[in-house]
Amino acid sequence: MRITCYPDNLTLEANPLLTVLENLLKAGVRHVHACGGNAACSTCRILILEGSQNCRSMTPAEKKLAQRLDLPVHIRLACQTRITGDVTLQRLVIDKADVEVAQHQLQAHSVGSQVTAAILSASLRGTANFDEENFPYDVVYTLGRYFAQMGALVQQYGGVLANQSGLRSLALFGFKQPELAVQQALQAGLALGQSVVELNRCLRQLSYPQVKLAIGIHYGPVLLLPLDPQDPQRLSAFGKSVQFATWLESVEDVSQGGEQSEEQSSRLLISAAVYRAVEGQLLQVEPLSVKPVPNAKPIRVYRVHPNPVSLPTGEEQAPEATKPEPLGWLEALREWLQAWSRF
Ligand code: FES
Repeated sequence: MRITCYPDNLTLEANPLLTVLENLLKAGVRHVHACGGNAACSTCRILILEGSQNCRSMTPAEKKLAQRLDLPVHIRLACQTRITGDVTLQRLVIDKADVEVAQHQLQAHSVGSQVTAAILSASLRGTANFDEENFPYDVVYTLGRYFAQMGALVQQYGGVLANQSGLRSLALFGFKQPELAVQQALQAGLALGQSVVELNRCLRQLSYPQVKLAIGIHYGPVLLLPLDPQDPQRLSAFGKSVQFATWLESVEDVSQGGEQSEEQSSRLLISAAVYRAVEGQLLQVEPLSVKPVPNAKPIRVYRVHPNPVSLPTGEEQAPEATKPEPLGWLEALREWLQAWSRF
């Protein structure tokens, strides 16, 4: 029986009494095995490309580590796997950087996973009007205020902040209460819209440019990658559903330009999947047909107007307790600006 090994592009005769790791090392392949073949590090992991039926069942030690890392079935530990016939495999940990990634995953207890979640993508617009040279504190204060509220509201409605890029944030809902994923994302989106209304009131009183919030919410499968083993909440999310939520958020708003009413200071679009999950619970929804690219077929999306909604709430939701207090903030901003003007 033979093992064909990539990326080395090497085929070797295998001894069925030895593990795949022992066979590779015997043939001179420098296959990483940081824990010495004791099913403790996962650096010997291999992807079985062909011949998975020729791999013996997992040992209890391999099963334990595979469960801990949530490894897919076609990824095996070379130090634990013996074969009964031809196998083609890809070595997965090749260099020092791969070893570090594997160690990170071991600490985070995951190589990544797929979940179904409600995805909220939000981006703040209008800050290009801030004058960075003369009033950097406007930018700093306004953005600081916005991001603090965003974090608090996402947490309040049971979500987790994932990717953050410039003024665009991504939050995921439904880890704790999957049955309320969509409702929680919507509640958070509406509360965020309200917080921007209040932010704009304060900015208007201080004669500063107003900002606008664009939000898109979709529901679907998401690939999650842990970023920091010390902090399991630090995640990167990606996949087609994430792209779709981001696209929804980026759809151009026909009401853009000129003075905006309070209702126009935020714009919330939801996908058909989200709409179906809350149909009948939203009081003010407007169907729209939007083309993703100029010559494509239009897609049905829905604009949610910021009126009272009758969505079910999760146990941890306490809107009254964390309602923003615009007056306190206004005072704080005034104090802060006064402090700046002394320099
Ligand atoms: S060498 Fe460490 S798990 Fe296989």
